[in-house]
Amino acid sequence: MPQTGAFSSRGTVEKPRILPVLAEFGKASVTGKAGLMAETTVTATPESAEGTEEGVRRRDFINVAAVSAAGVGGLATLLPLISQMAPSADVLAESSTEVDVSGIESGQAIKAVFRKQPLFVRRLTAKEIEEANAVDAGGLRDPQTLAERTLEGHEDLLVTMGVCTHLGCVPLGAAEGENKGEFGGYFCPCHGSHYDTAGRIRKGPAPLNLEVPEYAFITDSVIRVG
Ligand code: FES
Repeated sequence: MPQTGAFSSRGTVEKPRILPVLAEFGKASVTGKAGLMAETTVTATPESAEGTEEGVRRRDFINVAAVSAAGVGGLATLLPLISQMAPSADVLAESSTEVDVSGIESGQAIKAVFRKQPLFVRRLTAKEIEEANAVDAGGLRDPQTLAERTLEGHEDLLVTMGVCTHLGCVPLGAAEGENKGEFGGYFCPCHGSHYDTAGRIRKGPAPLNLEVPEYAFITDSVIRVG
């Protein structure tokens, strides 16, 4: 009864021979796909030890060649995908927001949009600044001073994302007459998080202060966020 190429003429199982197969490849005559397919089904009889060796080696080479081809093919598929993932010009333009802050009076806040999310820009009163600075920042859940959350020389301008750090609701307090919570900053009614006048979490489940995005003054009155 014929044996498959995985067995030697002595009837024992041979281990795969990758390296010898590659060395033998130079001597192998490749006759196209049909020829290769034919080689994969070669069977060897106990009487033909040479046929067995040849069958095992060529089949192993086909396995190695198939894996290599799959690797190259995968890379060729990946490269266009990566280039498609690079942000287009209009996406880059959307990634920053300019806000004219000259019209925001002391005690007022405005809502803008930054990367499709609400952005709060607030002009603090002298009293609000005083309250923020009176707190021992080291004892806060997310320790930060007002100075660390504002630009030098512009401590009265608080720029934060209008997104609660608990589960992402939009807190109240930016519009006139809205509930500012127990600490006079922002209040998230979803689960009761209170932020102080520096936008720091003081009470409720939110784990972090309202995020301060990167921003800078590009003129005396305009900031660019992002
Ligand atoms: S989302 Fe704001 S407290 Fe839960």
